[in-house]
Amino acid sequence: MVRPFDMVIRDPQSLAHRLEDAHPQSILRQALDGGGRVAISFSGAEDVILIDMACQVADHVEIFSLDTGRLHPETYRFIERVRDHYGVDIELMYPDQEALQAFTRRKGLFSFYKEGHQECCSIRKIEPLRRKLMQLDGWITGQRRDQSPTRHHVPVVQTDTAFSTEQHGILKWNPLANWSSGEVWEYIRANDVPYNELHDRGFLSIGCEPCTRVVGPHEHERAGRWWWEEATLKECGLHASNLEQPVRLVG
Ligand code: ADX
Ligand code: SF4
Repeated sequence: MVRPFDMVIRDPQSLAHRLEDAHPQSILRQALDGGGRVAISFSGAEDVILIDMACQVADHVEIFSLDTGRLHPETYRFIERVRDHYGVDIELMYPDQEALQAFTRRKGLFSFYKEGHQECCSIRKIEPLRRKLMQLDGWITGQRRDQSPTRHHVPVVQTDTAFSTEQHGILKWNPLANWSSGEVWEYIRANDVPYNELHDRGFLSIGCEPCTRVVGPHEHERAGRWWWEEATLKECGLHASNLEQPVRLVG
């Protein structure tokens, strides 16, 4: 039975526990039918399967993407392909123009290689995300536990401690938390789901162009993201709450 949003926000753990072994599509159905305004946060990568599954269980799906201005041309083309393929609207969220202008005037276009990615991500991703989340009661992400040392504990639903305020609680749904990369790709192939052409060129996890590179055959999938930084700090702030939990190193 679907529990209303206000019950879930008070006690997300018990729902997370109950849905722990549920199929991602059932988790999505719960997220979309549970009351409140909920949107899918689409990065232009393999998380497209959230859109594919959501379109099968809901008549209308709200989707947004954070356009940092630094995505690969292939990712922009892919976002348009997904829009056409599913006949959905994908809202692009942009950085605050004044903040971005002041930042690039001060620091140029590649400060993250020397100073770390936090400041750039905070202007290009976090502030636009916060603006979007102010309109929502919940957001749906493609985070998976097998993605990195910072994501081992990701529950299928949680209160978003990074973006909720006392007045406004926000639920974060992670329907793919339990799926492996292999399961995601099986689904994409079996269901003819469109995918970002960069995946055919050796990219696994895809973010902004200057901060993403191809990974080698024995490297972990997020090894190509911010490769110059420490693995346990590789969250850009979208998923900052992951860093509040104890981090278990792999390998
Ligand atoms: S990131 O924080 O390191 O960039 P990652 O690329 O692993 O995140 O993606 C995890 C999930 O975060 C995606 O499935 C998506 O839901 C969300 N996400 C990441 N980047 C974006 C983006 N540019 N726009 C919208 N959602 C995003
Ligand atoms: Fe800036 Fe790189 Fe973060 Fe994109 S991923 S917002 S380019 S630091």
